Amino acid sequence: MRVFREKVQVSMFRQLTGLMGLAIIALLAVPAQAEPKFSFATTPGQLPRDVIPTRYAVEITPDPKSLSTTGTEVIDIEVRKPTRTVVLNALNLKVDQARLDGRLPGAVKIDPVKQTATITFARPIPTGPHRLSLNFAGQVNAQAEGLYYVRYKTDKGEKLMFGTQMEPTDARRMFPLWDEPVFRTPFALTVKLPENFKAVSNMPVEREKRLGGGLKSIAFAPTPKMPSYLLVLCAGELESLEDEVAGVKIGVVTTEGKSQNGRYAQEALKKLLPYYNDYFGVGYALPKLDQIAIPGGFSGAMENWGGITYNEAILLYDPARSSQSTKEAIFNVVAHEVAHQWFGNLVTMAWWDNLWLNEGFASWMDTKATDHFNPEWEVWLRASAAKNFAMQSDARSTTHPIQQPVTDPAQAASAFDEITYQKGEAFIRMLEAYLGEAKFRDGIRRYMKAHTLSNTTTADLWAALEEASGQPVQAIAAGWTEQPGFPVVTVSSRCEGDKQRLALRQDRFTVNDPNAKALLWKVPITYGAVGSDKVESFLLAEKTATTTAEGCGAPVKLNRGDTGYYRVKYEGNLFEQLKQNFSRLQTADRVNLLSDTWALVQAKQAGARDYLSLAEAAKDDTNLAVWQQILATLGEIDRLQIGQPGREPFQAYARSLLQPVYQRVGWDAQPGEPETTGLLRSSVLASLGKFKDEAVVAEARRRFEAFVRTPESLAPNLRPPVLSVVGRYADQATYDQLLSLARKTQSTEEKRNYYAALAGALDPKLAQQTLALSLKNEEEPNLATNLVLQVAGSGEHREMAWEFAKQNYQALLDKRAFFNRYKYLPGLVANFTEAERAQEFEAFAKANLPAEALPEVSKGAEFVRASAGIKEQQIGEVDSWACSKTKVEGGKGAQFCLGVN
Ligand code: BES
Ligand code: ZN
Repeated sequence: MRVFREKVQVSMFRQLTGLMGLAIIALLAVPAQAEPKFSFATTPGQLPRDVIPTRYAVEITPDPKSLSTTGTEVIDIEVRKPTRTVVLNALNLKVDQARLDGRLPGAVKIDPVKQTATITFARPIPTGPHRLSLNFAGQVNAQAEGLYYVRYKTDKGEKLMFGTQMEPTDARRMFPLWDEPVFRTPFALTVKLPENFKAVSNMPVEREKRLGGGLKSIAFAPTPKMPSYLLVLCAGELESLEDEVAGVKIGVVTTEGKSQNGRYAQEALKKLLPYYNDYFGVGYALPKLDQIAIPGGFSGAMENWGGITYNEAILLYDPARSSQSTKEAIFNVVAHEVAHQWFGNLVTMAWWDNLWLNEGFASWMDTKATDHFNPEWEVWLRASAAKNFAMQSDARSTTHPIQQPVTDPAQAASAFDEITYQKGEAFIRMLEAYLGEAKFRDGIRRYMKAHTLSNTTTADLWAALEEASGQPVQAIAAGWTEQPGFPVVTVSSRCEGDKQRLALRQDRFTVNDPNAKALLWKVPITYGAVGSDKVESFLLAEKTATTTAEGCGAPVKLNRGDTGYYRVKYEGNLFEQLKQNFSRLQTADRVNLLSDTWALVQAKQAGARDYLSLAEAAKDDTNLAVWQQILATLGEIDRLQIGQPGREPFQAYARSLLQPVYQRVGWDAQPGEPETTGLLRSSVLASLGKFKDEAVVAEARRRFEAFVRTPESLAPNLRPPVLSVVGRYADQATYDQLLSLARKTQSTEEKRNYYAALAGALDPKLAQQTLALSLKNEEEPNLATNLVLQVAGSGEHREMAWEFAKQNYQALLDKRAFFNRYKYLPGLVANFTEAERAQEFEAFAKANLPAEALPEVSKGAEFVRASAGIKEQQIGEVDSWACSKTKVEGGKGAQFCLGVN
């Protein structure tokens, strides 16, 4: 691990506190000083600031046969303080022939641990502009780190293409450079490639010339000043769809034969680019914007400026074969990456400790823009699931503030988590609601204008929002981004004359973390009486407060519209009243009440029957988001029931709870039904299949057999649920059938569905076969390693998958790119619900994995401990509820229920 400036500060701080004792600790316990606005000099980082790059000219030749590269580089630099050494980043590269200003030779020393190249000259370089030139040689990687290759099948045999993935710290694997976002520099890239290759980079092609010997050289126009993590180069036998919008040339680039499936993403971009031009108040900055579909690489997408890369499964849409959820995922991911073209690319966080500025904002913006263009998808209602994901992790001891120190590449990679993304998104949503949509947007416009082509910290964002709104944004917001966790607001109500008097109190909300530090927030509370559209707001700035609400007849509901990032606990008979009025609550409030109640169950502040009785109150609900909340919770309870005697009665109960909605949606789409109904149908069918509904399982099998004969017979929306149910109960023949379908298709979306289905097989013999596949090279490496997680998760072979992972951990981790390597670990144990497993996992990691992997390991272990705690506390109550509500006929389940009631 590297030594950074912050590290030194931390150890000095420890010495100081050690020497001066408690007094200084008491002093430091007052709220930490707010973060300063951006300045180049105070930005954290590893590289010295006395030499800065002002332009790169890079020429690189990647060889598709040997998978190695050679290249030359000319870097214009500005020396700010005379120095004999120039330090820049390089990893797995050979660097030589370093020269200053064409004359003075430099000695190159590579440090593989610090990931740097230090070039030392015989005499100090005087201040001012200079030119550094060097040669380098490196590799084309098998994983999505730096320059990488992907192999894919076509009708004309196997092909290879090149791609890049730089964020956060892998550009240094392609050529030596200042690989920190604060060093914004123009890049002028030239690449030598086989003549039949097309190449795409951030900027348009400027010159192309034939070199003979089957090679050509392509020079791209220089980029504006930009951070190194946004660099892109893709090349191969590619084709593209071309168009133009708002004066910008746009394209969808795919491997040959697939570009027609890019139409949907192209249309999405045509809507989004003008929308963002307006929202941000500055136009898109580059002359072109390509969206590149890669049949592999990694499973997500990357916002490279002017050349966004996507795994093709989330960019290409085939109307005859793709599902509604794929369509929504495409719109959402395009909205996300295109938002980054401003928020992230035009204006960049100064350092990875402020990554949330990029990812939290883009996550919020993707939902906002998706909702704007597709209101019928109800994505804000459904965003509740993403918020819950963040809140669940934010309640545990392993959480961290949105803004967190980052000192090495592993920590930078680890920062791409649900706190940065989903808490960031939810917090921005709460802030937007508090300041008002128009004021918030004005603040964003000011921010964009003030920091164009530069870097920022969170303090710069607060300052812009303060100017626009006149509100003390920094004072309200800093507690949410600089402190871990969030509050639960306890509310009780009592009638006084014709008014309700509300008493509010905030406490930190935790799960399995009794020693959590008590914290306070400034909480933007909204509330209103059920049945009334009148919503009042109130900033809860202290521990407790009282306020009033109109009318004594109807109960009040807090966090109206589900826009707040806090839980609410209703005291006295308020909860009962809300439950009785459940169907009168607005949809977002129904979703919110369900989520909060389940969270309180997890925190042991409510009983499982509180949640289950509420879910029963929802049985006539038709809303997708409401059902997704219930299905997710039933799924979680079912997971806690694995291996427990109460599982069978619980599944019977879950089936009975789902019957009414199943009866309503059925198997086949009705003409003109909303798109959300299609999604509701596929979620309900998948859940019923999982809970062993015999009719659903039989029908899924029947439809699968028909599908194998006549693929068009199975509607695209039914493919994921049918495949998952059939895969779960598969025998060898069905498994083989799924595998051959997976191997045959050239669509990554379909491949993912087939492999996920077969990896969910309950039959242990089949699970072993799936585990073996994870080490083979028939699938893209990233997806192959996911098979182990799927065998442990949907396949329910927790023990088998964990044993396999222990035996093969090195091979599995080696298949993952560095930036998402350690994030793989928690999933390996996440389905255990026994505390001993958490300990075993930690012990294994300590003995076998590098220290930089341990933060991810702790997260995984803590997740298991939290599950164990919830299981222990709540399973008895679940059992007695389920047994009292359903008749389990015969067998072990019935016997078990006899004992329970
Ligand atoms: N900047 C990220 C891609 C990324 C993720 C780079 C992790 C390095 C490490 C990109 O904008 C992103 O967030 N992609 C998401 C998809 C998005 C719709 C949330 C992804 O890849 O999962
Ligand atoms: Zn992003």
